[in-house]
Amino acid sequence: MKKISLTGIKPTGTPHLGNYLGAIRPALELAKDYDTVYFIADYHALTTVHDGKEMAENIHKVAATWLACGLDPEKGLFYKQSDIPEIFELSWALSCFTPKGFMNRAHAYKAKVEANRANGEDLDTNVNMGLYCYPCLMDADILMFNADVVPVGKDQKQHVEFARDVAIRFNKQMGKDVFVVPEPLIQETTDVIPGLDGRKMSKSYDNTIELFLDEKARKKKVNKIVTNSLPLEAAKDPDTCNVFNLFKLFATPEETAALAETYRAGGMGWGYAKGELQRVLERTFGEAREKYNDLMAHPDRIDEILHAGAEKARPIAREHMDKVREVLGYGKSF
Ligand code: ADP
Ligand code: TRP
Repeated sequence: MKKISLTGIKPTGTPHLGNYLGAIRPALELAKDYDTVYFIADYHALTTVHDGKEMAENIHKVAATWLACGLDPEKGLFYKQSDIPEIFELSWALSCFTPKGFMNRAHAYKAKVEANRANGEDLDTNVNMGLYCYPCLMDADILMFNADVVPVGKDQKQHVEFARDVAIRFNKQMGKDVFVVPEPLIQETTDVIPGLDGRKMSKSYDNTIELFLDEKARKKKVNKIVTNSLPLEAAKDPDTCNVFNLFKLFATPEETAALAETYRAGGMGWGYAKGELQRVLERTFGEAREKYNDLMAHPDRIDEILHAGAEKARPIAREHMDKVREVLGYGKSF
């Protein structure tokens, strides 16, 4: 039996290079050796998105991104979280095995509290219970489908570790191995992708390069990548340069070595380096962009794929949830 790789992406905006390199690309590479469970974490997005039209559009964008990047919906499971109500049932059960301290330490919640503190606000300002309990829902996502590995960016490592811990606690307390203990899978080379300003690329920092921009719009973004102000003639250090650090993630080893050499030799302007980045990005995403645009023009096709995926996933979730219910003394659902 193959092991299971599972990951989810929150539909909170348009997917960007950080999402692609940190989550989508590694997840799709794992599809060769693992059974896959890849989904749209749409109820997670509800912690911040409270506009139905925007939510629906974001869901289509994330689904179309997975599909355009090569996910085969016939293989493995591909669904949206909100179509599997058993996940929310499990989330409650798991929350009753989760120490409150875990939630206090969860990084997304903590970051919000710290921001409130820095601004002299009440510490609970703009903190809804969804944000606070966010990791419990993520535990249910992961444990429901017996994930062995969870490919994510570094920022999600803590959440996956919570899922590990809760699985171990539950199994131990109930005296039965109901849950597989998952492991986070973080690629060192793509753990934190820099954005336009050199900070972590993130929708929250408004420093993203979206995957399927047309060439003109992407050029505008690439031109905004912050570089140092060394003159054309100066030798430059590729390793500390945001442009190079993105370039090398899409280039062949030969292209990477050649551009590094050009940096060090001096006589290279930033326009050249940015042009090289633009070239490898277009090579990577040009064809997929057509597929993405075509899907986005036909959202009903996306919905059909997601519904078929939920139909496949739900019986598996129901069966697992029934095992949990039986162990807890509720008996099977009917
Ligand atoms: P954002 O920070 O833009 O809101 P999400 O939190 O929705 O992105 O992230 C979705 C997935 O993409 C997660 O697995 C996350 O770890 C990964 N990811 C997001 N940004 C980056 C980044 N800059 N570098 C590496 N991985 C990232
Ligand atoms: N919390 C993840 C993020 O912000 C999204 C997510 C939800 C997820 N459930 C998951 C990732 C389960 C991996 C496994 O990016």
